[in-house]
Amino acid sequence: MDKRWPLMLAGSAAALAVVGLGAIWLGAIDVRASTGHWKITEWVLHGVMRASVKAAAGEAPQPLDPDLVAMGAGHFEQACLFCHGAPDTPRSALARAMLPPPPDLKEVVATWRDQDLFEIVQHGVRYSGMPAWPAKGRKDEVWAMVAFLRAYPDMTGDAYRRMATAPEVAGAVATGDRQPKADVLARCDACHAADKLADGSFVPQIQGQNQAYLAASLRAFLSGERESGMMRVAVNGLAPEELDQLAAHYATLARAPSPGPDRPAPTLSEAGRMLAERGDASRDIPACNSCHGAGSGNPLFPRLDGLSQATIATRLHLFQDKEAQPGGTPYRELMRKAARKLEERDIKALSAYYGSGQ
Ligand code: HEC
Ligand code: HEC
Ligand code: HEC
Repeated sequence: MDKRWPLMLAGSAAALAVVGLGAIWLGAIDVRASTGHWKITEWVLHGVMRASVKAAAGEAPQPLDPDLVAMGAGHFEQACLFCHGAPDTPRSALARAMLPPPPDLKEVVATWRDQDLFEIVQHGVRYSGMPAWPAKGRKDEVWAMVAFLRAYPDMTGDAYRRMATAPEVAGAVATGDRQPKADVLARCDACHAADKLADGSFVPQIQGQNQAYLAASLRAFLSGERESGMMRVAVNGLAPEELDQLAAHYATLARAPSPGPDRPAPTLSEAGRMLAERGDASRDIPACNSCHGAGSGNPLFPRLDGLSQATIATRLHLFQDKEAQPGGTPYRELMRKAARKLEERDIKALSAYYGSGQ
């Protein structure tokens, strides 16, 4: 046999590649969306997407808390409905003209496992318009979206609307220049209204929280300094002065007790009370109330009463995570330090103590 055949083969492959690239360069590949994909292209692209998602997906999660569904709905309304439609809203004509068109999720959710949905919502789908989650370090928020997507196929239009929006805005809504606009308040109340707060949801109660803390947090969400995909979308397009008006509005509303159980497991919450009031010097854990109690006098230290168990636990986990950016005030390093030595059982005890209708 001719000993030069490998060389010849390589030569022809190179020539083919040059011809191929030349053809692409000259415009042989049609990228016009108006002509649509051929069925085979569509099948291949979607097949590639399915295989890639399934290969990348991680472990199945713990069972997802049903209280996460409503916060997922609030975000879906702001960030996903435009492309995917909702039970009572058909997909926009603009979205249906995209290539590939965003599917009606009611029909496809059942074909994916939880961890696949997580993968799609976390990373988005390249070359399709499906965006990645706007905050890299917030897996907890992405799981809340998965909880929502799981419940979505069985949701009626009414049930969806009740969850995803606030029919009535609580508190005075004035029309003056210095008050937040009613449509913006409605957007916030879709997640933060008093009757939406729940033990297993980590949407914090903002009614009656210190005004300076609310204002600093909102500005930090806008700049991206405090990382949250849900809040990033919620404050998108608002001016800093509007954020200050929102802080002033919510700070004047009455604070409700935590949405948790009135009587938590007594040993757990007693352990929580000890840490809150005295800390544990032997383990280098400060007394939480030295900063969070009424006496600290610093309005940038948030009050913790009235928060849900899930909020307390989520925030403590974030402050412990070196990769996360959980703080929105200049004092956030103090909180990181306070959280550093907490163990999982301490976090459970503190959530039970602060998150129990006290
Ligand atoms: C700009 C338009 C757009 C927005 C906004 C958008 N998506 Fe998508 N989404 C798409 C497109 C396009 C696809 C199809 C990708 C494909 O098939 O390759 C898709 C696919 C998906 C899929 C996989 C469904 C399947 O079987 O193909 C899920 C799940 C999903 N999106 C959820 C969401 C969620 C949740 C949000 C909001 C956080 C969202 N999307 C926001 C355009 C969008
Ligand atoms: C999709 C649901 C959703 C919407 C809509 C939403 N929020 Fe939030 N908000 C959250 C979540 C979740 C957090 C917790 C973020 C975190 O873990 O850092 C949060 C946190 C906050 C905080 C920080 C409170 C604290 O105790 O640390 C403020 C202030 C806030 N939101 C105000 C608003 C305002 C004002 C609006 C309207 C412009 C709004 N939110 C709209 C879900 C939402
Ligand atoms: C030295 C002061 C200090 C101590 C001690 C402290 N914290 Fe904090 N904590 C802060 C500050 C400041 C923030 C606000 C951080 C930011 O957003 O920039 C905060 C925020 C929080 C939040 C978030 C509240 C919300 O509305 O989202 C929780 C929960 C919390 N702390 C719990 C605790 C617990 C539990 C302890 C006791 C183990 C503790 N803290 C001890 C200063 C402190």
